[in-house]
Amino acid sequence: MNISKLIVHKLRRALYSMTSSSSIQTLQTKILKVDASSIIFSTNSHIDGSLPTITDIQSKNALLEAAQIIRDTNETVAFPTETVYGLGGSALNDQSVLNIYKAKNRPSDNPLITHISSINQLNRKIFNDNSPSDPLENIPKIYHPLISKLWPGPLTILLSTENTHGSLSERTTNFQSTFAVRIPSNPIARALIALSDTPIAAPSANTSTKPSPTLASHVFHDLKGKIPLILDGGPCNIGVESTVLDGLSNPPMLLRPGGLTMEKILKLGNGQWDNCKVESKLNVKSNEVVRTPGMKYKHYSPNAKVVLLIPSSTNEYLARLIDFIKMQTFNKLAILTSYHLNGLSLDDLSQINTNSKEHTIVIKSLGQTGEEIQANLFARLREVDEDDKVDLILVEGVTENEEGLAIMNRL
Ligand code: TXA
Ligand code: MG
Repeated sequence: MNISKLIVHKLRRALYSMTSSSSIQTLQTKILKVDASSIIFSTNSHIDGSLPTITDIQSKNALLEAAQIIRDTNETVAFPTETVYGLGGSALNDQSVLNIYKAKNRPSDNPLITHISSINQLNRKIFNDNSPSDPLENIPKIYHPLISKLWPGPLTILLSTENTHGSLSERTTNFQSTFAVRIPSNPIARALIALSDTPIAAPSANTSTKPSPTLASHVFHDLKGKIPLILDGGPCNIGVESTVLDGLSNPPMLLRPGGLTMEKILKLGNGQWDNCKVESKLNVKSNEVVRTPGMKYKHYSPNAKVVLLIPSSTNEYLARLIDFIKMQTFNKLAILTSYHLNGLSLDDLSQINTNSKEHTIVIKSLGQTGEEIQANLFARLREVDEDDKVDLILVEGVTENEEGLAIMNRL
């Protein structure tokens, strides 16, 4: 190579490395507000697939922009659901799904839930069945009593991929013979799926291992620069993820407790779910293929150390709280509680610990009812971890019934 050729070659290499490093560029993450109350679906739209009316023009434009990204590109969009914020991409397209895994840094053997806006869309887009004689004919009968009463809502069911003719990306299902699917009830989520007319694969929109996001600001904290758009619909009212049910196995299984309680499944399941078993994390080893692969990974983990205190009464709680504070060494401790601390003030609590010279304690309420605690849990964990920057979090456990099953599963 003569000298001028060498210079041209070097310049080309330099130019190439500039353009290729800009292809790993960070994205500008836009946040657009959407007013859920301006989105109106007709009563049967979750079955027949009719589109919503959207009265607020800004909300409509934001939804159309997001729908265009889902339908026409490989990119992802974060959006609110009634459970937690999701990070969505087309469930039909390998590259969109790979982009979800990449933005979240999620282990690629953990399959995603496919979100649909209606049974009509499920039949057309996933089962390639444009004119079923009965809208529910592609769904096993065991699910009918539940979905007819609980969809749209926080209920995810497993279906067989047998009759899907390869419509779903194998990245969505992680090459399994089943796929997980739900119709979310949040109007913003449903409108996005309906307007894009695309089944959307969506895990929670957090960095893998972190608590799930229940506000648009949580998503921005974790994913800024990694995704182009976040739809901000305010706080998620349920606050924990959907309940995942497997009605294909015998006995049927509850794979992940969530926003729909076991008690409600038993009550509304027409007797067909009475022998339903709860999948236990204790049986799952890290190198094993499990029925719900999400189970074997670390989840919901703040940076601070978290200690769970399971009380049996207010007095016992206070006694153990005081013992705990006495024994620990910390700079900043957060106490997440639903108890009234019986007149104990922050000052009183701050006097107890003599191990740590300079220390601070913050107390945050989780709320009183199961529904409140469920709705507040992830947001409080993020507040004390990301804003207050505590090094130790003491969080209070609850009884494992009703919402308590999902709460304790996360803790
Ligand atoms: O509420 C929710 O479900 C939220 C919102 C965004 O809809 N989504 C969510 O997705 O929590 P993700 O990916 O964080 O949790 C999906 C769970 C995981 O535990 C996964 O292992 C399980 O569903 N799952 C998905 N497909 C499955 C399949 N084919 N078989 C068994 N488990 C499956
Ligand atoms: Mg998740």
